[in-house]
Amino acid sequence: MNASAPGSDELVLVVDFGAQYAQLIARRVREARVYSEIVAPTISAAEVAAKAPIGIIFSGGPDSVHADGAIAIDPGVYELGVPILGICYGAQLIAQQNGGLVDRTDRGEYGRTTLTVDGTDSTLLGGTPAEQKVWMSHFDAIVKPPLGVTAIASTPDAPVAAFEDSEQKLYGVQFHPEVMHTEHGQHVIEQFLEHGCGATGSWTMASIIDTAVEQIREQVGERQVICALSGGVDSAVAAALVHKAIGDQLTCVHVDTGLMRLHEADQVIETFERNFGVHLIFVDAGERFFSALADITEPEAKRKAIGELFIRVFEDAKAEAKGAEFLVQGTLYPDVIESGSEHASTIKSHHNVGGLPEDMEFELIEPLRSLFKDEVRQVGSELGLPDEIVQRQPFPGPGLGVRIIGEVTPDKVATLQHADFIVREELRKAGLESEIWQSFAVLPDIRSVGVMGDERTYGYPIIIRAVTSEDAMTADWARIPYDVLESMSSRVINEVPGVNRVAYDITSKPPGTIEWE
Ligand code: XMP
Repeated sequence: MNASAPGSDELVLVVDFGAQYAQLIARRVREARVYSEIVAPTISAAEVAAKAPIGIIFSGGPDSVHADGAIAIDPGVYELGVPILGICYGAQLIAQQNGGLVDRTDRGEYGRTTLTVDGTDSTLLGGTPAEQKVWMSHFDAIVKPPLGVTAIASTPDAPVAAFEDSEQKLYGVQFHPEVMHTEHGQHVIEQFLEHGCGATGSWTMASIIDTAVEQIREQVGERQVICALSGGVDSAVAAALVHKAIGDQLTCVHVDTGLMRLHEADQVIETFERNFGVHLIFVDAGERFFSALADITEPEAKRKAIGELFIRVFEDAKAEAKGAEFLVQGTLYPDVIESGSEHASTIKSHHNVGGLPEDMEFELIEPLRSLFKDEVRQVGSELGLPDEIVQRQPFPGPGLGVRIIGEVTPDKVATLQHADFIVREELRKAGLESEIWQSFAVLPDIRSVGVMGDERTYGYPIIIRAVTSEDAMTADWARIPYDVLESMSSRVINEVPGVNRVAYDITSKPPGTIEWE
């Protein structure tokens, strides 16, 4: 096993030169069943050596290699004998640091272009056609490959669009193999891994689970662990993993805030208590939440009230958790990359489980901190969690509280739960659920006049919100077919008392946010 790579003896480092593509590269490598980790370009040759990678990939970056203060890699990295693949800026850097030449071309190349492959015996491009579509985004171009290295492909504006030398173990592509628009991109990455680095591709979900189980047992010993189980994917998978490792030493706390989706609490209890036999403390705190929310209409005040009460309820339940010293957190790899933080030992103020406070001194267990969301879902399935939990859409910590505009009351929650259930059910029936990032109903604080069966009505509208997104940072409204919208609308109006109108939110993010509050 490689000490730096959970569940694998093969590690590939992706050096992030500031492009938005480093995460994508890391994921493509993992899709080839090789564990990858993103590191900063300031990493020293000694630090690289200590991680014992089988290969290194330099990402693209926004700089020109000729710019003042352009980021370079410690030249000692080239002396380690580890195969290196440079992509875009990464390829230019390899050329520049190893006796090649990078020049300004008259015009840059952006978007799709045709790559012409020279010869057929290349490692990177072996098995791909002589002409193929690749995706480019560069201004500078490599005009001479590194010393002793051969150019293996070109485009109209990039005389050295790819180079390689298996003796020096240097590989470079000016195009972006990690993006979908490059026809044979994944193949190029796999060729580098398999033939350039000798990777066997043995990293699997089962191996991740085995390693995590071992690490958790070692970290915890005989001590007790607590986990706040929200019903969301991350906390559910983290809990299932920790339970596999230490069984009865884990206590889960599920706080029903009264602001959950319909049947959500039942599903959590069913899965964890009945199927997994997890020690679960179920706290029905609905009434406490409703009284804390009485008369509050301002969105931030609402969020604050919900967050604070969540902490109090969790603290009360903690007493039942047999003196737990550890807290399970569903932190994911993108959180780790974004915060740039190394392993934290005590809890910080802002966390996934609902903002647990700073003075709550637990040691953290974060079994998912090296995984991307889709990998977490795969681990969950492998652990036997049902699809209803594993494929669940993201759900905000404050729950339906931020989807009811104005004061939150039990009646309004019941109305919204019902409408929300119909919206999601119709989408599922239409087979559209997997294309949608989030889909839900919102209950605004207005009423309108309608007519139903000759009677005047004065009821609430329901707003349907459905968005597509990659990461929730930006989002677009989903182009749901009219007939699906139609069945949502007629079912909501016919089945949910007090609702007489349905509207569809066609706002992207930005300028809107996904949630209404
Ligand atoms: P917005 O509304 O800011 O939401 O576009 C972005 C994503 O975050 C979710 N969200 C939350 N998740 N606690 C959470 O765990 C929260 O307080 C919270 N507020 C918003 C939202 O559902 C979307 O996926």
